[in-house]
Amino acid sequence: MVKINENLKYIESENSFAKVIRLANIYKQEHPDKDVVSLGIGDVTLPIPKKIVDIMQNALEELDDKDTFKGYGDSSGYEFLKSTILDNEYKNMGFTTKEIYISNGTKTDSTNILELFDINSKILISDIMYPIYHNAALCLNRKTYVMPLKEEDNFVPQVPEEHYDIIYLCNPNNPIGNAYDYDTLTSWVNYANRENAIIIYDNVYEDFISYNLPHSIYEINGAKNVAIELKSFSKSLSFSGIRCSYYIIPKEIYEDVNNIWALRTINRFNGVNYITQKGAKAFYDADVQIEVKKNINYYLENAHILKEGFKKCGFSIWGGENAPYLWVKIKENMTSWEIFDKYLHELNIIITPGIIFGASGDKYFRISALNTRENTIKAIERIIKYYEKNN
Ligand SMILES: Cc1ncc(COP(=O)(O)O)c(C=O)c1O
Repeated sequence: MVKINENLKYIESENSFAKVIRLANIYKQEHPDKDVVSLGIGDVTLPIPKKIVDIMQNALEELDDKDTFKGYGDSSGYEFLKSTILDNEYKNMGFTTKEIYISNGTKTDSTNILELFDINSKILISDIMYPIYHNAALCLNRKTYVMPLKEEDNFVPQVPEEHYDIIYLCNPNNPIGNAYDYDTLTSWVNYANRENAIIIYDNVYEDFISYNLPHSIYEINGAKNVAIELKSFSKSLSFSGIRCSYYIIPKEIYEDVNNIWALRTINRFNGVNYITQKGAKAFYDADVQIEVKKNINYYLENAHILKEGFKKCGFSIWGGENAPYLWVKIKENMTSWEIFDKYLHELNIIITPGIIFGASGDKYFRISALNTRENTIKAIERIIKYYEKNN
């Protein structure tokens, strides 16, 4: 009998996004007459800018001509996209295209990157965090250690006293919806330098930063020695279905790191398709950037509407100013699954129970501002009306 990877049995299913979707679908099937609105989704709703679609269509047409046809590309990405990203996102930071890898999503990258490190590395995650880091580490036979995120710290992760080898930071943060300041990131970069640790810095929501806060961890002195930064086109270019991301492994991390990782990548991945990479490159065109900013502002305005609405109902609420998520403290004496049930059944609104992000999240729930304006307004009006009647 073949033995399977026993760790797979421990992947959280009881407190998971899959369960939210399952319960919501059961309710919708049983109540087809109800207009269920989702504030639970972490996916975008605005379409891909037209110019990007045109560029991708042209790229596709190049493939039916023998002179412009392309088969396998470089498994770590085309030079044209790597250099465009470095010129736009990391200008004057001194990175070369050997230090950047194009890939098919930060979900995969944030966990595959663990292959770079010893299997016994001590991995630090937060209790209240994007759950994928823990679950995927488990799949890869890695052990994680948990640091609580506390309300009294405004859910900002605090540097520990103990040693860890690998630290996950997600900034702007999912699920809290906050973004860290220079001092916070400096304290982590200093810790990592002191402890010879590595920070895996998930920067998927960077384009949502609207305050004067760091956009990249490499703005912090010493970060090149200790940080791997990951970013994706999923949210900013509505590429969640297309799939394109990138990450930086600075050569300072250790001698030869990029040769080793390039070799690993050739053996593990055949690259993102040419059409997608052509589309991603045009993300940096001035006219596309205008549209991207418009879309981001649209979601941030949704977040503002939601935040004001929840405040009006007397909730404590965090986030939504530099990220598309808001973190709400449950007012009722209920767990986060109980409030999920109540919102689904009584208000026909889907929220995400906080416990999905860790045990400390059970007093909270997450809402997403990535829905349409119409649905956002519809949901908040229902919530305000409900609490006006029931407070
Ligand atoms: C914190 C965080 N990292 C990564 C991802 C996944 O990004 P991608 O679509 O690039 O895989 C998400 C998606 O919701 C996310 O919230």
